[in-house]
Amino acid sequence: MPAIDKREQEHCLEHRLEQRRQFLRWAAASPLLTLPGAAAVFAQDQAKRPDPMIWTPTTDLNLIASPKDAINVFDFEPVAFKKVPPAHFGYMASGIDDEVTLRANRQAFQKFQLRPRRLRDVSKIDTSVTLFGRKWNTPIIIAPTGGNKAYDPEGEVAVARACRAGGHLNILSAAGASSIEDVIAARQGEVWFQLYATSSLEVAQQVVRRVEKAGCPVLEITVDRNGGRNQETFFRLRRQDTRTCVTCHTAGIGAARERPNYDGIDMSKVASMQSANMTWDYIAKMRDTTKMKIILKGIVTEEDAQLCLKYGVDGIHVSNHGGRSEDNGRGAIEYLPEVAKVARGKVPILFDSGVRRGTDIFKAMALGATAVCIGRPYLWGLGAFGQPGVERVLEILREEFTGVMQQMGAPNIAAIMPEMVRQA
Ligand SMILES: Cc1cc2nc3c(=O)[nH]c(=O)nc-3n(C[C@H](O)[C@H](O)[C@H](O)COP(=O)(O)O)c2cc1C
Repeated sequence: MPAIDKREQEHCLEHRLEQRRQFLRWAAASPLLTLPGAAAVFAQDQAKRPDPMIWTPTTDLNLIASPKDAINVFDFEPVAFKKVPPAHFGYMASGIDDEVTLRANRQAFQKFQLRPRRLRDVSKIDTSVTLFGRKWNTPIIIAPTGGNKAYDPEGEVAVARACRAGGHLNILSAAGASSIEDVIAARQGEVWFQLYATSSLEVAQQVVRRVEKAGCPVLEITVDRNGGRNQETFFRLRRQDTRTCVTCHTAGIGAARERPNYDGIDMSKVASMQSANMTWDYIAKMRDTTKMKIILKGIVTEEDAQLCLKYGVDGIHVSNHGGRSEDNGRGAIEYLPEVAKVARGKVPILFDSGVRRGTDIFKAMALGATAVCIGRPYLWGLGAFGQPGVERVLEILREEFTGVMQQMGAPNIAAIMPEMVRQA
């Protein structure tokens, strides 16, 4: 996807500010706000927000002006909302249908409580983990998200540089707006690649050979995007966007052809990046195609975790795609125990969907995750302040996680025990 034109972005920002000014003028004059019903409307709006924090700044009056002002990762979201064009912000924020799953991803963390242990020496905390023989100083990973240039002109390259600064593993999306070669160069280190296999094995194999040649050691195949989806928030916010989408999306919105990781591949028989025809047999064929480690992203049941082991998959990524696959109503953290029951100790387990706090990371690790991926929060940071925003989001999460480990009496990752979490 071409970079967002800066002037166009400024135009959109001015448009959004004017909309907000109009709303504030209307709100100040409106008798509606004195009615009891209005409180219910605002309470409902609050409930739709991804987090129950009522004091998260949401107005222009108290937005953070720089990454260092951020106290938590939520501080970046309203800044990104202000700066990113409505269609792009809407695409990122959107869940599916009623967005029950999107909200459940946050609410479900509250169903799990911590059982801290006391009188342990936690003056030094070691957050390092080992994944496929490689040591990382933090278990916090960048989840693959497509089209990062929708939030900042440098897109995935800015994210990769932020990963380098903080020592994080980066998983690049096949739908990224930057090529695997550019992202590896920016990261100056190991990058994993997430594959949207499309409906064509040949197309998938060509992409896989390219990323293997580029030096990727691990391939994540996303298995939870098979069908169409009603992204209502996206569609509604897109209506507010004054720009003409096809000016940038010349090959069509979301088309694989506009993504550099499919460059040079004959896509004439491929309608989209989704893989409605993918089966376990397909995974066996991919196994024969590459020497890279293979992780399946989007596994959420113990039955499928069993099949992962049977088919020789090297890792499992528990995720409901941030509530963007099907509106199944189950918070992602609730899947983790059943998958861990089958796979813990046998293959690495990655987890994402709804992670916003150090406590979320701790709970996921205690419930069986080997490492935890961050999605929307780094996109908020990217949209708000570019690379420094992503760096600060990751820094906040590292600090929060370290603090929770100290409070929990866990000086290292091995000391994070299942019994430190109980289901309420
Ligand atoms: C804007 C956006 C784009 C995404 N693109 C991809 C993608 O290209 N491939 C993929 O496997 N997952 C994709 N995801 C899902 C993320 O990898 C991750 O599962 C999700 O963001 C976790 O939910 P959270 O962001 O609410 O924590 C995307 C998510 C978002 C928000």
